[in-house]
Amino acid sequence: MSKKINLFAILVLALMVMFTVSCEGPAGADGVAGADGADGTDGVDGADGNVSCLTCHSTDGMAAIDGLFALSGHSAGNYVGYAGSRGSCSRCHSSEGFMDFIAGYDGEDIPYPSAWSCGTCHGSHSSLEEGISAPLQTTAAVTIIEDGMTVIDFDGPSNLCANCHQSRRGYAYYEAIDSVWTDDVNGNDSLDFVVADGSVYINSSHAGPHHGPQANTLSGLGGYGTSSTGAHLSAGCVGCHMGDATSTEGGHSFVPNLENCTVACHGSVTDMATFTTDAQDAVSVRLDAIAAELVTAGALAGDATDGYHPHVGVVTEAQFKAFWNYMVVYEDHSHGVHNPGYFNTLLTQAEALLGL
Ligand code: HEC
Ligand code: HEC
Ligand code: HEC
Ligand code: HEC
Ligand code: HEC
Repeated sequence: MSKKINLFAILVLALMVMFTVSCEGPAGADGVAGADGADGTDGVDGADGNVSCLTCHSTDGMAAIDGLFALSGHSAGNYVGYAGSRGSCSRCHSSEGFMDFIAGYDGEDIPYPSAWSCGTCHGSHSSLEEGISAPLQTTAAVTIIEDGMTVIDFDGPSNLCANCHQSRRGYAYYEAIDSVWTDDVNGNDSLDFVVADGSVYINSSHAGPHHGPQANTLSGLGGYGTSSTGAHLSAGCVGCHMGDATSTEGGHSFVPNLENCTVACHGSVTDMATFTTDAQDAVSVRLDAIAAELVTAGALAGDATDGYHPHVGVVTEAQFKAFWNYMVVYEDHSHGVHNPGYFNTLLTQAEALLGL
């Protein structure tokens, strides 16, 4: 039997050779055969496709992320109704506005805005090779809105955050209002007036850098005073606000997590609340003293119980600089954590300008 098969195989082979030869043109003379090359080393085994995808795409893993995300302000979208549809706000305050912005359209009005979902920050994988990371809409360095020139680069996922968590205005905008103030919005000429030299006009109860200048402050930017960056810069945003996760903190809750503080730097800390409380309280005490002084100056209105907000009016340049630094430290919302040395400089500057 096996002989029969062998014979058959030889026959088929012979026919194939004949057939091949009959199709070719006249064969050229054979060249001299080169020596065999050395065998290459074996490549590293590829990982099992399932395993590498399931690091992220497991039902349990994704459910845990869903649960954490549901706890976050991004998911709640508290200000989506208020700011999500307006052209000047939508790039940061609605999912659709941010998607438009990423696609190159800024300032779009969004008729039906919605809060962040997974796809607001995540796009599609550009490849499916071993070791791929979660696909993000952008990780590109960010040219800041404040001056349209300075580039902030956290070198990775935190650049996504910097698109929204940055100052919308710098002090230069208000300092420019130092000659004639014209009421462009209402076009009412009777409201135009001359702002005296050495004075600055605080033209709105929303004056300031806006609510989330964290990318600037972490980079030592945004206030009056010598710029400085601290050890926290290298954590970007995700190093503290995401990273390791429990069921209520870290990861997609975006709530800074104790493990993220201890893992690389603050090894001896055991309780997040007591760790940050003293330092944060010290910043709050200084902010309150500055605010009380700024109320007297007419730069802020409000009180310690209900909170403070900018007050429309003309103030001296010194008062304005103190006001500006107050707003930057206050609006950063970390009570000093993001860049302690820089915030100390800004508060010291404000205190000196107000004679505190
Ligand atoms: C580091 C985490 C991670 C790994 C590893 C990973 N993914 Fe993903 N993948 C994601 C995230 C996050 C999304 C976006 C989810 C969303 O928007 O709901 C996604 C989306 C997808 C999508 C839908 C969107 C698209 O790209 O078209 C597919 C399909 C997908 N992944 C396949 C894979 C495959 C196949 C592998 C393994 C080769 C893999 N992923 C490995 C995190 C990961
Ligand atoms: C599209 C703009 C946008 C992006 C991108 C973005 N944020 Fe936010 N973030 C906001 C806005 C707006 C709020 C206020 C949310 C609200 O309640 O409407 C917010 C709220 C927060 C809060 C406050 C806590 C909370 O849960 O309300 C933290 C912390 C935060 N973001 C961190 C981050 C980090 C870290 C990243 C990057 C991984 C990021 N954000 C990406 C716009 C953005
Ligand atoms: C460059 C991005 C950006 C733009 C543009 C922007 N915001 Fe925001 N806004 C944020 C971020 C980020 C937060 C959350 C900051 C935080 O929690 O520290 C926020 C917070 C807010 C809050 C909550 C305030 C609070 O006390 O926590 C309101 C209200 C708000 N924005 C209104 C607006 C309006 C109205 C506009 C348009 C006129 C606007 N924003 C434009 C990024 C932006
Ligand atoms: C505000 C932006 C934002 C939103 C919204 C968001 N993610 Fe992410 N996600 C990130 C960033 C940034 C990373 C990378 C974190 C890092 O490198 O440390 C990430 C990482 C991941 C990963 C990789 C594993 C991990 O935990 O780091 C998965 C899986 C994932 N996201 C799934 C989701 C899902 C599912 C949703 C919706 C429920 C979601 N993400 C919503 C920003 C976001
Ligand atoms: C060194 C760790 C660290 C880094 C880096 C960091 N944060 Fe924070 N962040 C904190 C801590 C701690 C708080 C204070 C939380 C508290 O008091 O509850 C905070 C507060 C905040 C808040 C206010 C949260 C609230 O509940 O109102 C926002 C928004 C925020 N950070 C965003 C960012 C963004 C965006 C970046 C990157 C540009 C960043 N953070 C970088 C640790 C960090």
